[in-house]
Amino acid sequence: MADEATNGHRHDPAAVDFLKVTEQAALASARWLGRGDNNAADQAAVDAMRSTFSEMPITGTVVIGEGQKDEAPELYVGEVLGDGGMECEIAVDPLEGTDLVARGDSGAVAICAVGRPGGIMPAPDIYMQKLCVGPTARGRVDIEAPIEDTLDVVARCYGRRLRDLTVIVLDRPRHEELIGQIREAGARITLIADGDITASMSAAVRGTGDHLYVGIGGSTEGVITAAVMECLGGEIQAKMWPRNDAELDMMKEFDMGSPDRVMTTRDLAPDPLYVIATGVTDGNLLKGVRYFADGARTHSIVMDLVSNTVRFVDTVHILSRTLIREVRL
Ligand code: FBP
Repeated sequence: MADEATNGHRHDPAAVDFLKVTEQAALASARWLGRGDNNAADQAAVDAMRSTFSEMPITGTVVIGEGQKDEAPELYVGEVLGDGGMECEIAVDPLEGTDLVARGDSGAVAICAVGRPGGIMPAPDIYMQKLCVGPTARGRVDIEAPIEDTLDVVARCYGRRLRDLTVIVLDRPRHEELIGQIREAGARITLIADGDITASMSAAVRGTGDHLYVGIGGSTEGVITAAVMECLGGEIQAKMWPRNDAELDMMKEFDMGSPDRVMTTRDLAPDPLYVIATGVTDGNLLKGVRYFADGARTHSIVMDLVSNTVRFVDTVHILSRTLIREVRL
């Protein structure tokens, strides 16, 4: 469809044009806060995100989505999104932290990454071992090194003692040994229930009080994290963590090489353009959705490698048909 305002020519969308995609997903899923229904929260985010994408002037192929075509009816890998236009690749997690929303817990976000064709690595949805740091420690860490050495290096990068360092780890039995080693080394730990994209993003932004994310989480989350890290000047190092032969076969299908291969930020996200995230529930970096009588407020981060900007966007959404009575600071 031609756009009259641009004389029939449509411009490629900028990073901020994708903001409505995560804002709408957040607005829809945050309604399910604390209602104990993670599927409903996720579905609300998926529906809102997909329908918002459908109006965008893009031809966007989902590379990381809700699953393969036979597993997910919407936002599946290979689905082409948009109303036609800029060729791009899309990685989405419409609701990162579904259980967090169901429990009314902190740290859930709606997130999407946009890359040039070939700009986002496809990956099977299995586990991945990850190490994420911000720009302060970028290039100085090694996922193969003992965790005590890594903590030591990061502490030195920040000019701190180890006891003044905060490491984020997913609270899972598989991390028992890792958690023990971090405690033994003397660093502080924030154990999170879910949401390792949010955790990595927090570790890459100075002032959040977080310095490092380590552990085993989802590989699709790892790919989105790589795009985030590229935008924020941070770094992810990752290794696939298959648990059985079937998962090894999945790795083969995706031509991922051996599980010993260490993947870098650029391996996972070779050519990202933008990453946009909106808070669903309160976190260190983003506030969650707040609803009021005639509207709602969202808080987002728009990371843009084209204009080299990182914007924090606080949006008041007027939901009522009547004129809004007041906009509050
Ligand atoms: P969902 O929002 O899809 O539930 O994922 C949440 C999450 O915590 C991710 O952030 C993380 O990578 C993964 O799940 C960890 O998987 P598991 O819960 O199986 O340990």
